[in-house]
Amino acid sequence: MSKKPVRVAVTGAAGQIGYALLFRIASGEMLGKDQPVILQLLEIPDEKAQNALKGVIMELEDCAFPLLAGIEAHSDPMQAFKDTDYALLVGSRPRGPGMERAELLAINGAIFTTQGKALNAVASRNVKVLVVGNPANTNAYIAMKAAPDLPAKNFTAMLRLDHNRAASQLAAKTGKAVADIEKLAVWGNHSPTMYADYRFATIAGQSVKDMINDETWNRETFLPTVGKRGAAIIAARGLSSAASAANAAIDHMRDWALGTNGKWVTMGIPSNGEYGIPKEVMFGFPVTCANGEYKIVEGLEIDAFSQECINKTLAELQGEQDGVKHLL
Ligand code: NAD
Ligand code: LMR
Repeated sequence: MSKKPVRVAVTGAAGQIGYALLFRIASGEMLGKDQPVILQLLEIPDEKAQNALKGVIMELEDCAFPLLAGIEAHSDPMQAFKDTDYALLVGSRPRGPGMERAELLAINGAIFTTQGKALNAVASRNVKVLVVGNPANTNAYIAMKAAPDLPAKNFTAMLRLDHNRAASQLAAKTGKAVADIEKLAVWGNHSPTMYADYRFATIAGQSVKDMINDETWNRETFLPTVGKRGAAIIAARGLSSAASAANAAIDHMRDWALGTNGKWVTMGIPSNGEYGIPKEVMFGFPVTCANGEYKIVEGLEIDAFSQECINKTLAELQGEQDGVKHLL
C-alpha cells in the first residue's frame, strides 16, 4: 500500500446516516480500494452521542479494514476538520413527521456557520465539502459564506439522492437497467421543488422521453414521486432515509474525486451564473467530473415547462437564503 492516507471528516458520525456511511468509506468504496483513509469523526459533546460514537468506533476497529489508517473522535469542529481533505457534513437535526423545512433552517443555520468557520480555519485548502444535513443546499451555502478563505467551488450540497431516485423510477417505468441511464439532470433544491429532468436522458443511446412518451406521467407521477420520496420514507419508516442517503453521499464524493468518465451526475454547487441562476446560489446542476473537478453541462435547451420548474425551485432557494441572511 503506497498511497499516503487522506483525512476524511464526518459530522453526525453516530447518527443513522453515519452508521450506513463510515464502514463504506473505510472499506474503500468512496475513494478507491487503494486509498488509505483517516476518519476524523465529529459528534456533539453530549455524553450519549459521544458514547454512541465510541461504540461505532469499536465496530470500525472490529472490521479490521486494511485501508483504515486511523480513527479520531471529536466534539470540536476545530479539531475534527484539522487538515481534512474531505468533509461530509451530515450532522444536523433531521426532519421528523410533519416538520417544515423552515423550522429546520433555523435550527441548523447556527451549526453550519460554526462548521464553515472551522473549515476555513483548519481544513486543507483543497478540502472537498459535501453537505448532507438538511436543508442541504442552504446549509452548504451558509458553510461556504462562513469560509471566505476557501474556494467557494469546494462547497457542495447533496442532490445525488434525488438523481438516483429519478434514475430508479425511470428504470422501473421503461423496464430497462438503471445502470444504462445516461444524461439525467436534477435542477435546484434538495426539496420537493427539485426538477428531475429526463428530456436529455438516454438508455443505450435511445431517448428516454421518446420511450415513455407520456407528459402526464412526467408531471403527475414522476415529478411528485421523486420530489416527495423523502417524505414518503419518513411516513413509512418513522425515520428519514439513511442507507440510500449514505449511498448517495458515497456516489457524490467518489465521482467528484475519481471522475465520471463523461457520465452526467447531479451535484448541488454554487452557481457562476449558468442557466440564469444567480451567482453563489447553491443549485443542483448536471455535471461531469474529471481530475478532481466538476464541470456544469452547458448549452442544454430549457423549454417553457422546465423554465417554470427551475424558477420555482430557485425562488424557494432564494427564500431560504434570505431567511439565513442574518446568520452570515
Ligand atoms: P440522526 O439524527 O440519526 O443523526 C444526526 C447526528 O448528528 C446525531 O448523532 C447528532 O448528535 C449529530 N449532530 C447534530 N448536530 C451536530 C453538530 N453540530 N455537530 C456534529 N454532529 C451533530 O440523523 P440522520 O438520519 O443521520 O440525518 C442527518 C441529516 O441528513 C438530517 O438533516 C437529514 O434530514 C439529512 N438527510 C439529507 C438527505 C439528502 O439527500 N440531502 C437525505 C437524508 C437525510
Ligand atoms: C430525503 O430526501 O430522504 C431527506 O432529505 C429527508 C427529508 O427530510 O426529506
